[in-house]
Amino acid sequence: MTLSVQEAIRARRTVKDYRPDPVPRQLVEAVLGAAAWAPNHHLTQPWRLIVLEGPARTPLAELRRALKRRELLAKGLPPAQVEAEAAESAAKLLRAPVLIVVACQQVGDEIQRQEDFSATAAAIQNMLLTATELGLGSFWTSGPLAIAPETNTLLGLSPSDRIVGIVHLGYPAAPLRSGQRPPPPVRWITPIEVPKLVAQVERVVNGRTSTPA
Ligand SMILES: Cc1cc2nc3c(=O)[nH]c(=O)nc-3n(C[C@H](O)[C@H](O)[C@H](O)COP(=O)(O)O)c2cc1C
Repeated sequence: MTLSVQEAIRARRTVKDYRPDPVPRQLVEAVLGAAAWAPNHHLTQPWRLIVLEGPARTPLAELRRALKRRELLAKGLPPAQVEAEAAESAAKLLRAPVLIVVACQQVGDEIQRQEDFSATAAAIQNMLLTATELGLGSFWTSGPLAIAPETNTLLGLSPSDRIVGIVHLGYPAAPLRSGQRPPPPVRWITPIEVPKLVAQVERVVNGRTSTPA
């Protein structure tokens, strides 16, 4: 299947149900390779990718179970309910045969950290579009597991690294649904507004008008 960029953007859907079939290594490599082509300022290549395939997913699923158990016990829920919900939470992480944890190095000043986080999000979108082109389903998640310091520890990430996504990957159990999106909110600055905006620059910067009242 060959999709244009526009076709892949629109065909990509969040997939939660997968066939158990493993994904050929070559396809996983293609998805990983696409990450590196995202724009990244100063070519910091801030992304760190960790692939968990088949049984390698188990430690992360067990961590999810343990974190969920701790959260629910702290809320005072009955032990049987805690175990059932914790098991369900762990099982959800095992629906796709491949998980790719996409983390981002967070070093330097605030600008660099923001740019590197943004670049890593763009890398994830490259991965999802590549998966779509290759006939694979994908699911970008974050949530409590992504922000838990225990996840960084378990996966050998630095405590300062931020997990931008946990990407699920595999063959979809059903054809991808079609999507619907409203157009994005857009404001075009019109030529007539330009003089007024230029006149505001001094006030915006210095808290006063450029021409004395
Ligand atoms: C950063 C991020 C985190 C997400 N986390 C979840 C999640 O925890 N659970 C979930 O069901 N979907 C999650 N999603 C997927 C969105 O819900 C999904 O993209 C949205 O419903 C639109 O559907 P589509 O991807 O099929 O177009 C996440 C998406 C992003 C970008």
